[in-house]
Amino acid sequence: MRAIVQDRYGAPGTVLTLREIDKPVPKEGEVLVRVAAASVHRGDCFLVQGKPFLMRMMTGLLRPKPGIPGFDIAGRVEAIGTGVSDFAAGDEVFGSCEGVFGACAEFVCAQASKLVGKPAGVSFEQAAAVPTSGLAALHGLREAGRLEPEQKVLINGASGGVGSLAVQIAKVLGAEVTGVCSTRNVEMVRSIGADHVVDYTTEDFTNSDRRYDLILDNVENRSLKEVRRALVPRGTLVLNSGSGAAGLRLLIRLIKPMLLAPFVRQRLVRYLSVPKKGDLDYLAELLESGRLTSAIDRTYPLEEVPAAMDHLCAGHARGKVVIAVEDGQTD
Ligand SMILES: NC(=O)c1ccc[n+]([C@@H]2O[C@H](COP(=O)([O-])OP(=O)(O)OC[C@H]3O[C@@H](n4cnc5c(N)ncnc54)[C@H](OP(=O)(O)O)[C@@H]3O)[C@@H](O)[C@H]2O)c1
Repeated sequence: MRAIVQDRYGAPGTVLTLREIDKPVPKEGEVLVRVAAASVHRGDCFLVQGKPFLMRMMTGLLRPKPGIPGFDIAGRVEAIGTGVSDFAAGDEVFGSCEGVFGACAEFVCAQASKLVGKPAGVSFEQAAAVPTSGLAALHGLREAGRLEPEQKVLINGASGGVGSLAVQIAKVLGAEVTGVCSTRNVEMVRSIGADHVVDYTTEDFTNSDRRYDLILDNVENRSLKEVRRALVPRGTLVLNSGSGAAGLRLLIRLIKPMLLAPFVRQRLVRYLSVPKKGDLDYLAELLESGRLTSAIDRTYPLEEVPAAMDHLCAGHARGKVVIAVEDGQTD
């Protein structure tokens, strides 16, 4: 099968190559999926670039374990491993495939517990765009943020992969939503349901009279002090970005909110989104009912994954970056 393979760290355009490799065989509890579409997200950038360096503890210090990027897939079940009873060959599914062999390939093995049925009226590309970013948005708002109906929520980075889904999910959860993005994305953020849009090139959300019950910060480009100024006295700040800093600065950025949290009335939270079948089912229901739509920045063919990831890793994707794998599939 054809797959995008990485065997050293660096810029995606230089370290990712298209190769012919063996088709994987599903183990116990796994499903072999013929991938129709995949999507990539910012976490894939960290893994391919080997930055932040701390990440290499898991992926290999000097060289990465040979791997295929991507966590998110939509496709058809090709075969099932032992112990899988909820899927059969031919079923249309979408979800998350974590592990060494990732989504940017013609076939991938995924744990059955991280896949759900794809709604019939939703395209493979639409579905593939949702799992990691949609779950990060849902978990950031609902679990970490404890969002309640009618609360005022601000989403920093509202036009990105997580942000564009978070705006819509926050609306479904009954919130009044403000999205922060640059001028070229104002209309897009409004079109996906934001009640208010702040153009960060002309307006500073940390320096206005508006106060929010919850801020989901996908960018973390402002100091804690500045962002907390935009919260109500007992508001919640959910921090959702590890990018934009390195070394000691990154470590300080990661732990500072936790050190400060016991001494302030506002809740300061970091979280790690872990795929759960029930939550994926919930996102599938939202897709099926039309209450959630993937804003797709651009769809690239499999051989253009290096260019797709260079675009994503530059940090200004408008919605999700999707890979159409199905065309040209070979056994
Ligand atoms: N907690 C978890 O488990 C979890 C899971 C998944 C992802 N994440 C994290 O979530 C973060 C966001 O991921 P993503 O996939 O949404 O990234 P993305 O698709 O690359 O989006 C980044 C967005 O940030 C916006 N942006 C850049 N500079 C900005 C600024 N100064 N002010 C406001 N917005 C700005 C960009 O909009 P413009 O082009 O308009 O500037 C772009 O739309 C990443 O750090 C990722 O690691 C966390």
